[in-house]
Amino acid sequence: MPKVTGLRCRECGAEYETTLQNTCYECFGPLEVVYDWEYIADHTSKERIQSGPNSIYRYIDFLPVEGKTLVDLGAGFNKLHKLENLGKTLGLKNLYAMDDSVNPTNSFKDRVTSVAVTKALEFGVTAVGCASTGNLAASVSAHAAKAGLPAYIFIPEGIEKGKIVQSLVYGANIIEVEGTYDDANRLATEIADFHPDWGFVNINVRPYYTEGSKTLAFEVAEQLDWTSPDHVVVPMASGALLCAIHRGFNEFAKIGLIDPPDDMKVSGMQPSGCNPIVKAVKEDMEIEPIRKPHTIAHSLAIGNPADGYYAKRIIKNTGGYAEDPTDEEIVNAIKLLASTEGIFTEPAGGVTLAGFLRLVEKGLIEEDETVVIYLTGNGLKTQDAVLDHLPDPVKIKPLISDFEKKVAIKT
Ligand SMILES: Cc1ncc(COP(=O)(O)O)c(C=O)c1O
Ligand SMILES: [Zn+2]
Repeated sequence: MPKVTGLRCRECGAEYETTLQNTCYECFGPLEVVYDWEYIADHTSKERIQSGPNSIYRYIDFLPVEGKTLVDLGAGFNKLHKLENLGKTLGLKNLYAMDDSVNPTNSFKDRVTSVAVTKALEFGVTAVGCASTGNLAASVSAHAAKAGLPAYIFIPEGIEKGKIVQSLVYGANIIEVEGTYDDANRLATEIADFHPDWGFVNINVRPYYTEGSKTLAFEVAEQLDWTSPDHVVVPMASGALLCAIHRGFNEFAKIGLIDPPDDMKVSGMQPSGCNPIVKAVKEDMEIEPIRKPHTIAHSLAIGNPADGYYAKRIIKNTGGYAEDPTDEEIVNAIKLLASTEGIFTEPAGGVTLAGFLRLVEKGLIEEDETVVIYLTGNGLKTQDAVLDHLPDPVKIKPLISDFEKKVAIKT
């Protein structure tokens, strides 16, 4: 595959062949995919992208898969909404949201999973797996079903029922580990070592897996008429998504599809109950793992974020911000978005919007600034988060008089 030349350690620069491996043998640093940018520049173009499929695979020139057999349920090509109503309320003229809750399993994870399972098949794995905070579980289960592979999915205790049901229905082996996400991830890492012919998407397939999220930058740039926004606001768990979005805009610029995003701020948001990266940014310190996360935003509850160091560096270097809203702010933001813009997001989206609202409150957002908020998961999966904060339906007798008395008079 001429577009990919191998893997490289992000810490010491050691180079490796394209294999199922995520850690450097020299220094234990994480590995990343190395591309031949001259080759890609010669082979891709706006026209080629625009005539591609209506999915993440319109950007296949930037993805580390050969693509002879794609495990593709149709992730991507989602709408960048202009938030006119919310923008007006906040006094902002160019507020946008990328709604990634409408992917095949209703989160952005379908982007990374489709790439990872495709790559795992190219390596000839006999099973796939992952450690998950909920959304990845459903996404890997669905893509494994499509690929005809068994799946082993490790989740911590306490994940929302909707996400567990969604994962089980695809026929995967769902293993609930007594403990936190970090406990589940540790066990899954040991099992991945024990079964080297299995592909754990966010463990030994991780360098390829994270590449799928770059398409969230590409889609925004394409929908903003081949420009980058002034500011992107991203939810963080491991921090991988934030790094990939930043990388995506820079890769488009590298081959001249957009101008260099030199002034683009990248902000990252976490819930107050699991905020290791935000704390490190705000207090300018090393990342200290959170032992026992406690938040309604279960999908962001990673206490020991694998890409936290890199996410912190991007936030700092781009002049972005980090905020950690409370559960109450998260619920209010979910309701605000739904009632002003008709988009029902899960708590991760609530975290992102609530964090952004803090920035607006602090006067850090310009009226004309083009801001893109990433909404990465669907509220229908996490109904318990808002159920107790909504009014009951109005109950009436099947009579027009009762309707007029109890409903119409109030509106
Ligand atoms: C809905 C949602 N948004 C954002 C994230 C954060 O992803 P990352 O671990 O890449 O920071 C997750 C992670 O599970 C998620 O489920
Ligand atoms: Zn190394």
